[in-house]
Amino acid sequence: MGFKEQIDITRLPEHIAIIMDGNGRWAKNQGKFRAFGHESGVLSVKDIVEGCVDIGIKYLTVYAFSTENWNRPVEEVNALMELLITTINQETETLTKNNIRLNAIGDIASLPQKCIEDLKSAMDKTANNTHCTLTLALSYSAKWEIIEAAKKLAVQVKAGKIDIDEINEAHFSAQLTTINMPDPELMIRTSGEHRISNFLLWQMAYTELYFTDTLWPDFRREDLFEAIVDYQKRERRFGKISEQLN
Ligand code: IPE
Ligand code: IPE
Ligand code: MG
Repeated sequence: MGFKEQIDITRLPEHIAIIMDGNGRWAKNQGKFRAFGHESGVLSVKDIVEGCVDIGIKYLTVYAFSTENWNRPVEEVNALMELLITTINQETETLTKNNIRLNAIGDIASLPQKCIEDLKSAMDKTANNTHCTLTLALSYSAKWEIIEAAKKLAVQVKAGKIDIDEINEAHFSAQLTTINMPDPELMIRTSGEHRISNFLLWQMAYTELYFTDTLWPDFRREDLFEAIVDYQKRERRFGKISEQLN
């Protein structure tokens, strides 16, 4: 029996977050340039998005470029930005056909102008799609996001719109870029690295973490389904004890 058949569709995670890692090593293993790994990684994104749509995942958030990734060699950064633009433009039609809404989180203003424009246009075109929301984390870092949220709250307090004592988890969450999305129940990181790398720190407070050695360009929907099956075997206690759970 394949992993897909083992999934209990009544207990699917609503939101899956993925740190797509290992493109560079995948390319290097074959004596190719890192950019080739990134290009191949796009095929994985497409397959995973289709896999999510197939089984009914409502939110998929993928870490495509971190704030820290700006520190990579300029040729690699440029190649990634080019790839982003090409991919967005190539895939918008398919997103629409599959009823997928494209969303982006991160410091979008720091991206190249062409990237901002094409991203915005693709987001506009897919804005009314309802089957699944695909969020690209671009120039994203969780610490950046949390600081931005703190600043927004400070402005509201200063303007007398809210009282300091009114600030609670819900209020804070509403300032984050993931507003209107549930927190991810499952986070997958490929490539054998066991770290969060500044991704969704607030939102992943109680997320189930799944790490696999598979490099991102080799990751396919069957691997996603395997991660979901693993997730469904876990007991999420949220601080309680087993006996308290139904
Ligand atoms: C992930 O793959 C893609 C991005 C960070 C943009 P990497 O490029 O980090 O690949 P490795 O980790 O060096 O193999
Ligand atoms: C995390 O991968 C960021 C993305 C996948 C976009 P990195 O490869 O940049 O992470 P570190 O530097 O190994 O932690
Ligand atoms: Mg990496």
